[in-house]
Amino acid sequence: MSLLKVENLSKVFGGVHAVEDLSFTINQGKIHSIIGPNGAGKTTLFNLITGIYTPTQGRIAFDDKDIVGLAPYQLAALGMSRTFQNLQIFFNMSALENVMVGLHLHLDRRLFPALFRLGGIAAKESQAEEEAADLMRFVGLGQYVGSESSSMPYGALKRLEIARAMAAKSRILLLDEPAAGLNPSETAEIDELIRKISETGVTVVLVEHDMHLVMGISDHILVLDYGKKLAEGTAREVRANPDVIAAYLGSGAIGGGHAA
Ligand SMILES: Nc1ncnc2c1ncn2[C@@H]1O[C@H](COP(=O)(O)OP(=O)(O)O)[C@@H](O)[C@H]1O
Ligand SMILES: [Mg+2]
Repeated sequence: MSLLKVENLSKVFGGVHAVEDLSFTINQGKIHSIIGPNGAGKTTLFNLITGIYTPTQGRIAFDDKDIVGLAPYQLAALGMSRTFQNLQIFFNMSALENVMVGLHLHLDRRLFPALFRLGGIAAKESQAEEEAADLMRFVGLGQYVGSESSSMPYGALKRLEIARAMAAKSRILLLDEPAAGLNPSETAEIDELIRKISETGVTVVLVEHDMHLVMGISDHILVLDYGKKLAEGTAREVRANPDVIAAYLGSGAIGGGHAA
């Protein structure tokens, strides 16, 4: 079943067609990857889907609802969350507080006055802390539950961002290069985590350069080149596609499945 539908989407910056006449569908419950060289338009596409940019042209439907023009917080309320290619961690907050930022998007503010009268704010806060700690353990950060975010290594911060995105209890999670800068064993842990997230029923959309990760994990792969669709399909189909082979020829990046 289609959860997200992109139709004839374009984004022009000055003279640059960052995304050009792009159409594709994201199916519910699957792991989708978007690949392509630097500058292919992958992050721009995420920014269009999540309401950070407004398309120059085209349509985006989430759950059959037209979402063009909605702000990121409105899309979050509909069940969409993301991580960023460049870490967006609040380093003046603890690890737990960073995850709680994601939870607070979800707390029902209409209940606040009643909770306040009943002294329930504290109870709600400790419940939020517990949920945030559970999420940290889920992403493999149990040892950092009491840590300051500023003291955590880069690989752990990548997973902290995923925990915060998950806190919003979204139906679709967009991950922009979650394995960038990670060593092979940390990348294997991210692979395992994405599968675990997918098993909870969340639809995952991944932008990633690590072809071993992408080819092994994806139900569906969309290949972009200069903002346009070069190919799409399963890993096997994409690897066998003559246009993909031509575009990646010599790079060795897409053939063997063990490329860095
Ligand atoms: N805010 C912006 N203003 C101007 N040009 C941009 C902006 N964002 C992206 N671009 C351009 O759009 C193209 C696609 O960039 P991007 O989406 O970041 O690619 P990718 O994530 O695939 O590496 C590039 O040519 C980039 O320079
Ligand atoms: Mg990018």
